[in-house]
Amino acid sequence: MPPLKTRLHGGDIYGAARELNRDPDEILDFSASINPLGPSSHVWKAITASRHLLSHYPDPHCWDLRQALATFWCTDPEQIAVGNGSTELIDVLPRALGIHRLLVVQPTFSEYAAAMRRAGGQATSLYADRSDQYAIPIDRLCRVMETGRSEGRSINGIVLCHPNSPTGQACSGDDVARLAAAARRRGFWLVIDEAFADYCPERSVLPHAASWPHVVVLRSMTKFYALPGLRVGYAVATPTVVRRLRRQLPPWSVSVMGQVAAVAALNDASHARQSLRFMAQERERFKMLLAALPGCLVLPTHTNYFLMELPRGRHAREMTEQLRNEGLLVRDCSSVPGCNARSIRLAVRSQQENNRLIQALSNLLHDGV
Ligand SMILES: Cc1ncc(COP(=O)(O)O)c(C=O)c1O
Repeated sequence: MPPLKTRLHGGDIYGAARELNRDPDEILDFSASINPLGPSSHVWKAITASRHLLSHYPDPHCWDLRQALATFWCTDPEQIAVGNGSTELIDVLPRALGIHRLLVVQPTFSEYAAAMRRAGGQATSLYADRSDQYAIPIDRLCRVMETGRSEGRSINGIVLCHPNSPTGQACSGDDVARLAAAARRRGFWLVIDEAFADYCPERSVLPHAASWPHVVVLRSMTKFYALPGLRVGYAVATPTVVRRLRRQLPPWSVSVMGQVAAVAALNDASHARQSLRFMAQERERFKMLLAALPGCLVLPTHTNYFLMELPRGRHAREMTEQLRNEGLLVRDCSSVPGCNARSIRLAVRSQQENNRLIQALSNLLHDGV
């Protein structure tokens, strides 16, 4: 067998389509966790109605979108910075805030450490316990905050992916507030990535964080609003921090259609409710089917994806490649620090698509016996 590739992120339907000599539309992507109901119908209408704007530069200040977000969150537009996906904001954060050593709670999204490396800083890790189903180790985190050191080195920032990817774990809003208080006492930056918090709004700290001077909350229009191709994310923080962030962003980084679509998506409360209802039901059904696969362990989640461990003796990387050959993309988590070699992350998609994945997994697991 040729050496298996390590793929850093999910969602590359184009690469898979090229390799398999297929059309990207034929690839079923369980590796990026996007709302299976797709974008709101308001988005299509808004994009069509804004076609004439394509021959203009986008609004560099994202004024309408910041206004819509401020209304949505009952805050001020000056407390919002919009980026080309939250990835762009993650990228500029170390430079904007002067973070030189960032504490990352593993296993988690790889871009925090990657952004630190690009900015010439370092990331240091604290590991959640698998035996605790990767629960966010909030007490240990607070202790690190008190000493200001991790792995023997001083830190000045911490990032919490909340809920976390790929584990699906979240702690209570009160626990995050405790962490924020500890960070504040030490003068550390706390970045809270809420890219998946739309699925557990009761755990979000965004409504409070706008008044915490050392906290930045990141949100994404990619996942719940199903706009990954348009690249829109935003940060909520105090006006001073927002100004620092915006100074690091390149001009016009958020496209016309990204801005228009994000406003339309935010204003469709009915699609949001329908999406949450669908997810609550289909997630349970999918979980039961996954858990019934021989030897598989499915971890609990607060989001629209599951971290699953394959049976002993199986390797996530091989399974990912085998599914890929069938046009099914799942996220191989074997290279995510803190995850074991049997870990894969699976998005919840439509009922029919989920059934197809279950069938494929079942065939492959039985073939291997
Ligand atoms: C936890 C987390 N945060 C942020 C992002 C970046 O999302 P985007 O740049 O599309 O807003 C991702 C993407 O996979 C993610 O998983």
